[in-house]
Amino acid sequence: GKSGYDHYMLKEINEQPLALRQCLRERVSELERTITVDELADLERRGPVQFVACGTSYHAALYGARLLREQGIPAQCFLASEYDARSIPITDETLVVGVTQSGETADTMSALRGANQAGATTLALTNVVGSSAARECNYVMYIRAGPEIGVAATKTFVSQQAALAMLSGVLSETHSSELIRRLRRLPDQLQQVLDESAVREIASTYVDADAYFFIGRGYNAPVALEGALKMKEITYKHAEGFAAGELKHGPLALVTEETPVFALITGPNAAKTLGNVKEVEARGAPVIAVTDQPELVEQYATHVLEVPAAGRRLTPILANVQLQLLSYWVANELGRSIDKPRNLAKSVTVE
Ligand code: F6R
Repeated sequence: GKSGYDHYMLKEINEQPLALRQCLRERVSELERTITVDELADLERRGPVQFVACGTSYHAALYGARLLREQGIPAQCFLASEYDARSIPITDETLVVGVTQSGETADTMSALRGANQAGATTLALTNVVGSSAARECNYVMYIRAGPEIGVAATKTFVSQQAALAMLSGVLSETHSSELIRRLRRLPDQLQQVLDESAVREIASTYVDADAYFFIGRGYNAPVALEGALKMKEITYKHAEGFAAGELKHGPLALVTEETPVFALITGPNAAKTLGNVKEVEARGAPVIAVTDQPELVEQYATHVLEVPAAGRRLTPILANVQLQLLSYWVANELGRSIDKPRNLAKSVTVE
């Protein structure tokens, strides 16, 4: 059941600290300063990594690919529906990672089959034991989020992000003790975000907007895309997510006093994103900053939603939770069918 929550989505958002703990359990050891994933014990990485995924899982893949590159591993992302294993370089050194919570998405399955035929090593990052993706791939890493009933992916996204952070550790020669320490603290920090209620008020302030913009750079860029996707899915409102620097290359023309802009401003490139915030502010748009540096942004933002600092790589995971709650509360005020949005299915088994 929904354990007293009005919707599975809200229940699952609130289950995220637990989902994270399950995902990290016996994999991240602060004592030994190691990241070990039993399922991947004999995985030997040699060549480049290609991610294939759809929707929210694609956003997780974008985030993960950046983590891998920062560890010195060449990594690229493909929308599974656009992946054509015959038209890109693949060797037996290529590792193709299918990110799919259900393990049943037809587009992702077809990309993984193509990768296997082309001779790549394949890995499924999934929530479902024995799923099609788990059976298709040479390796499988489980994200252990627990069952997700709401059509909008929430806790599986957070678990995918954490699993990808661990994968970046497994695939790289050097283990970052900073990443290990920060991963261990993340479930408690996520709980702190859930205990804040400011976002509900923001949702009701902007419930009548015609469109919502989301911007972020670096690890926050995929979170901006995810914020917009979640908003579209469950509120049926127009929403767009951009890498913050892209705004001035076109989309800025759409910004007016009527377009609230949610700006993800965390980590060391906060000042740069603030520059983009000034651009939208000059057009009179309300700016809602999601940040770990409230004193820095206060002067430019109409509202501030705070998140704990978890380092440049992990704070975006916490910022995303504020955006999940934002979409949820907007959809709730609008009386939408939150757990089963129109036209959507939990697992998409047609190409
Ligand atoms: C959005 C959502 C979808 C899925 C996509 C891929 O909330 O759930 O965008 O992320 O259909 O699904 P999986 O991860 O099962 O392959």
